[in-house]
Amino acid sequence: MKNYLVIGNPIEHSLSPKLHNHWIKKYNINAIYEKKKLSDEDLKNLLLKIRNQKINGVNVTVPFKQKIISYLDDLSTEAKDTQSVNTIFLRNKKIVGHNTDIFGFENAIRNIKFDVSNKKILILGAGGVVPSIIYSLNKMNSHKIMVSNRTASKVENLKNLFKNIVTVEWGEIPDFDMVINATSVGLKNTDEINLNFTKVGKEKIFYDVIYNPKLTNFLKIGMKLGNRVENGKKMFIYQAAESFRIWHGINPEINEEISSFLDL
Ligand code: ATR
Repeated sequence: MKNYLVIGNPIEHSLSPKLHNHWIKKYNINAIYEKKKLSDEDLKNLLLKIRNQKINGVNVTVPFKQKIISYLDDLSTEAKDTQSVNTIFLRNKKIVGHNTDIFGFENAIRNIKFDVSNKKILILGAGGVVPSIIYSLNKMNSHKIMVSNRTASKVENLKNLFKNIVTVEWGEIPDFDMVINATSVGLKNTDEINLNFTKVGKEKIFYDVIYNPKLTNFLKIGMKLGNRVENGKKMFIYQAAESFRIWHGINPEINEEISSFLDL
């Protein structure tokens, strides 16, 4: 039996085991997928287990997506360019880090049939998931990518990876076609993002990377102002599907059953 794992801290909330184990069962694969809360000191031992094939694949979440890189033998182009790893596998005895968040975001956007080319995108936040979003948007030829973060220095750091992004001061809302909440504000139902969107007009997209709760206060504001809203559910499902394909060689079916089963 093969063993797969998602690591993070905290990790209790992760829905990855539920989704992967559903597909493992559906495609009759002899494997199990578990979640494990780790601390920095555990990473070395984890890598040893991958090398010895006691663990066959790992998903990585907050706060290890960047930290894990120094332990790996090789990185995919996507992982290298974003300095972010969410999927680990063994190839020709080498431990490889890859980033399927990019695939996840790209396919979530394609799924809602939003053509980002010639569009102005405003990203709120500069944390772990933002490099993957910027990479996807660049791949899809978006016209302008603006990033606004409470701590401005983090946007400057992002500029080392992506020269084309434009800094927007926190609190300022420039003209945009799509605004993406990539902050952690909204994870709690009571969280309010302290930004004033009243002047943005209609026919915009409000996209939240958060999928639980389904409707954050940020999305509620977008909706109230008459805009289209979308949460991070599809991105989550597509990134998982791409990890599954890499490990098992099967493109798992994504349908309505998955959404209702995950209760998202
Ligand atoms: P990390 O910063 O460790 O990568 P993350 O969950 O990926 O963690 O990112 C959290 C993001 O939410 C950051 O952009 C953070 O802004 P700071 O860089 O200023 O910390 C943002 N964030 C968290 N709480 C916030 C709040 N109350 N208001 C605005 N932004 C907030």
